[in-house]
Parts: sequence; structure tokens; C-alpha cells
Amino acid sequence: MSHQLTKNELRKSKYNRNEFSKIERNEIYIILDSLKCAHNIGTILRLADSLLVKKVYICGDTIIPPNKKIKSSSRGAEKWVPWEYHKNPLPVAKTLKNYGIDIVAVEVTDNSIDFREFNPTDKPICLVFGREYDGVRQELLDISDYQVHLPLLGMSNSINVSTAASVMLYDVYSKMERKKIMNKGITKTI
Ligand SMILES: C[S@@+](CC[C@H](N)C(=O)[O-])C[C@H]1O[C@@H](n2cnc3c(N)ncnc32)[C@H](O)[C@@H]1O
Repeated sequence: MSHQLTKNELRKSKYNRNEFSKIERNEIYIILDSLKCAHNIGTILRLADSLLVKKVYICGDTIIPPNKKIKSSSRGAEKWVPWEYHKNPLPVAKTLKNYGIDIVAVEVTDNSIDFREFNPTDKPICLVFGREYDGVRQELLDISDYQVHLPLLGMSNSINVSTAASVMLYDVYSKMERKKIMNKGITKTI
């Protein structure tokens, strides 16, 4: 009969700090454009740790760790995920694009495609998520290689940004894993 793994059993299956510091991370980057809610930032950092995201760029008018509220939803994942703060997300996105990384704006736009139709090429990917009130800024949409949305079949115009991040991250991760794009080795970051 199966049972839920205890904390000790789970811990045994994990790396020690030294092994973890050397682990090869996946070719997925995240830009957060001016997120206001600590809970969303923390949740996304925790997701980024789960999928060994290469780096999270927390940008704009936002909150950054150390922060009590971020920590309570990240469960401390900011310790394990490489992250940086940048005032302006635009140069970050442009630099990543220059390194050959596809910029994928996760947003409902007049050009966006359904996430189920989005197929990563063999390039690394940077997912861009926007602010809770007004979304991904226009300049980032303008330089994006893809604009991808999650279908909204009801009356709402959007879903919570960390919910959108969970669906997109696991979807992109599984599609990239299937295509064996992972760990191909563009290791430079800005
Ligand atoms: C709450 S939404 C932004 C508000 C939205 N532009 C509006 O005013 O109707 C915050 C962020 O969550 C993500 N998001 C929310 N719903 C989404 C959807 N259906 N598809 C893709 N991204 C979504 C986007 O990154 C968006 O910038």
C-alpha cells in the first residue's frame, strides 16, 4: 500500500547543499514585470525552484526578498533559486534575446496563441509575466517572440498571475523535456 512520504523520507531523496550548488539548471528564465503582491512572487519563486529554473528576474516597481510575506509563500525557495532585481525589465529581455533565448510573453493579447498550440523551438525560453492590475508592459510585448495565453472560457478577463505561471511553467517544462531541449548549455546570463 502506498503512503504519503514523510519529511525525512523526502529529505533523503534530495541533494545536499554542495551537490545542489553544482546542479545543472534548466534553460527556462522568468521575468516578473512589476508584481505587487508578495504572495505571487513567493509562489513563483517556489515553482521556479521545483523546476530548476535558471534565473528569475524580479523587475520594476515590486517587492524583493528578504520579505516576510514572500518567504511565507515561497517557503524559503529564494535561497535556492538564482534571482536578481532590475529596475527596468526591457534591457533584461533584450539581453536574453541577444543570447538566443526566446522571449515568451504570457498575456492575453490580440496576437496571443493558446498555450496548447505553443511549441518551444530548440532555444531556451524566458517567460514574461505581468503586473496584477495592468499586465505585461507594451514594450515587452513588442519585443516578444511569442505571446501565449491560457483560455478564459468564463466571464473573467484574466486569472491570477501565479496560477498562470504554474500552468505555463509545467507545460513548457514538459514540452522542452520531451524535445530534450533541457540542459543544452547556454549558461551565460546577464
Ligand atoms: C491579472 S493579470 C493582468 C491583468 C489583465 N491584463 C487585465 O487587466 O485584464 C496578471 C498577469 O497574469 C498573467 N495572466 C493572467 N491571466 C492570463 C491568461 N489567461 N493567459 C495568460 N496570462 C495570464 C499575465 O502574465 C498577466 O500579465
